[in-house]
Amino acid sequence: MAAQKIQNIQTIRGFRDILPQQITTWQKIEQEAIRLFRSFGYEEIRIPVIEKTALFARSIGDTTDIVEKEMYSFEDRNSDKLTLRPEATASICRSYIQHKMYAADPVKKWFTIGPMFRRERPQKGRYRQFYQIDAEAFGIASPYMDAEMIFLLHTLFERLGLADLQVHINSLGCAQCRPVFQKTLMDFISDNRTEFCETCARRMKKNPLRILDCKVESCRNALEGAPATVDCLCEECRQHFDQVQTALAKQKVSCHVDNTLVRGLDYYTRTAWEIQTTSLGAQSAVAGGGRYDGLVEELGGPPTPAIGFAIGFDRLVEIMENMQGEPIPETKDLFIASLGEAAAEKAYHLASELNLWGIKTETDFRGKSMKSLMKRANKINARYVLMIGENELQSGTAILRDMNTKEQVSVEMNQNLAQEICRQINPDPASEYHLRR
Ligand code: HAM
Repeated sequence: MAAQKIQNIQTIRGFRDILPQQITTWQKIEQEAIRLFRSFGYEEIRIPVIEKTALFARSIGDTTDIVEKEMYSFEDRNSDKLTLRPEATASICRSYIQHKMYAADPVKKWFTIGPMFRRERPQKGRYRQFYQIDAEAFGIASPYMDAEMIFLLHTLFERLGLADLQVHINSLGCAQCRPVFQKTLMDFISDNRTEFCETCARRMKKNPLRILDCKVESCRNALEGAPATVDCLCEECRQHFDQVQTALAKQKVSCHVDNTLVRGLDYYTRTAWEIQTTSLGAQSAVAGGGRYDGLVEELGGPPTPAIGFAIGFDRLVEIMENMQGEPIPETKDLFIASLGEAAAEKAYHLASELNLWGIKTETDFRGKSMKSLMKRANKINARYVLMIGENELQSGTAILRDMNTKEQVSVEMNQNLAQEICRQINPDPASEYHLRR
């Protein structure tokens, strides 16, 4: 018996296709980001999509939402506990340590672009497979490194033409002053304990800072008037934070100090920031980052200051699409309309050659009439059409039609045909055709 056909398999919830008609915006952003990364000295790194679960649990923190509820984890056939990466920072640190990248020169600036996986509740701008443009810089403790990263991010958004963006910035202190803040916060909380949700009650023991990140309304209310991390910073952290803000102010990047910003990952020290927008509906972060001076050592490397950010690529695309309106349709330089077997063969070879010359050429081998071939030329937005039929093959000349002006010229079908077409339709002296010649 024939196997039963499986009908209508669709993508799983929170996962989606990015279709060819959407890709132009993705590519535009990617090209702009890579150009900027290169000029600021960042090199590309590519890291695996799956890592040991322990890497993320140790780095991001056991009591974060990501590790507690959102990771796609599974046991491999040999019982290894593995996880689809929910972010890139932990893997990049692992790579920095594993390959002893610190040995010759601890300063490294890296970027990566790719998919991340978090089992969140899907909604507009929130997916279970989403993409990040991520940058990390190792080995530089100076506040100018923090400022440079925020400036880079700000510049990228500016170059992409984004308005309505706010930089929210905070300092989360260091190993010295964080405990002072936690004690102050716990003193404040201990009077209001009943007003906090169960998760917060649990987090009070393990990781009080996480309470500031709780989205439950009663917790948010109970935190009104709570102490802020910036009130408890040690002298060095305070100076660091001030210098970051002064540098950015001089570069005309306005920042809003946001005392409630603690970020959803535990590795942060000192400066943390988010770029927020209202253009996706509710206030949401299109990028986030911060310093994480303890993480490399925590994962087994030498003490290494480090800092980074990740852009939510999907969200950035959505903002750009809202700004741009309808996507610009794809165009072709030339469509070859051929009639008959012999002309089809000629069209095939000519199209291949022209594509190699950098002329976007298409033809159609389905034996259609001239009328439907011309229809197709219009549909694919061809700038020119070359018509070849039996008569043209016999006379040795074909007709080249400009689809905008409707002007037609005869072109000789000899061994110089490809070059002649290039000359006719691509007179730009800097074009690939001219460069190759
Ligand atoms: P994050 O804030 O968790 O930081 O993620 C960065 C950005 O990724 C967010 O601002 C958001 O735009 C986007 N994003 C997060 N989750 C989703 C989702 N489910 N769907 C769509 N977009 C999403 C990090 O991941 C850190 N590793 C950033 C970093 C790098 N810090 C230091 N270095």
